[in-house]
Amino acid sequence: MEVIKLGPGFAAEIRGVGMAEVAADEAVYTAVRAVFEEHSVLVFRRQPITDELQLAYSKRFGPLETAKAASRGEGTQFSILTNVEPDGSLVKPGHKEELRARANQLWHTDSCFKIPPALASVLSARTIPTHGGETEFVSMRNTWQRLSPELRARLDGACAWHDYAHSRGKIAPHLASERERSVMPPVSWRMRWRNPVNGRDALYIASHTYAIDGLSREDSLRLIDELTALATQPEQIYQHRWQAGDVVMWDNRATMHRGRPWPEDQPRYMIRTTITATDADGLAGMWPQRSAA
Ligand code: OGA
Ligand code: MN
Repeated sequence: MEVIKLGPGFAAEIRGVGMAEVAADEAVYTAVRAVFEEHSVLVFRRQPITDELQLAYSKRFGPLETAKAASRGEGTQFSILTNVEPDGSLVKPGHKEELRARANQLWHTDSCFKIPPALASVLSARTIPTHGGETEFVSMRNTWQRLSPELRARLDGACAWHDYAHSRGKIAPHLASERERSVMPPVSWRMRWRNPVNGRDALYIASHTYAIDGLSREDSLRLIDELTALATQPEQIYQHRWQAGDVVMWDNRATMHRGRPWPEDQPRYMIRTTITATDADGLAGMWPQRSAA
């Protein structure tokens, strides 16, 4: 196995082993898992991807999430991100899937609004546009290190609130349906996720984050905006330009990502599986600390 570094202090391509070997072989899985813990974003090129292979690979890393209420793939372990209708036509501007794609273009980590949240996401390119539609990543470990010591100490004990409806509301007021709101109420987590394998800390925020305990709503939103701006400075970004057969896996504990726009007259079809975090992934340390009443 060869590990080729890609981004500014994180992200790596794996060569020499493919996803099928990870799925089939415990020793290969262990080696790739170590690269995942170290580099946060893994790129596999030219994979013979099928739904079965994506499932078998993803399940190695832990239990899988069921796709969100009211999203394509609801009730299955596949989240489908596309502008292609089931009949093969492309969605019109203003269509729910187009609005969702725009919400995915806000910097975020997946499923911080869920209990439990996500360890990792595995995204496979099934149909890609000729240009545009890249996915960009930043390291929230690097971000943590770039905070001032004072701010780091403050955030170390802080808790923040996450709500799917908050990020959707930035795109269109009713993009999160009543049903989505009722099955995904706001949740809170610690703002610092410590990786139990290497002890490295990451700032845990996203487009979904709307409040920080102890701060007014206005001050919370201002701080979240400042932290997001710090995290996503251009030189901190790894941009993945998709090629046919690419699969990218990222650590939702330690990165943020966003999609980029693509020409609306071109199809893009991506399938994501999402791995749920467990206590062994450091989730045990993420529950909000509430002072006794
Ligand atoms: C995702 C996501 C962005 C993209 O799959 O979670 O945010 O580029 N994708 O499709
Ligand atoms: Mn996402």
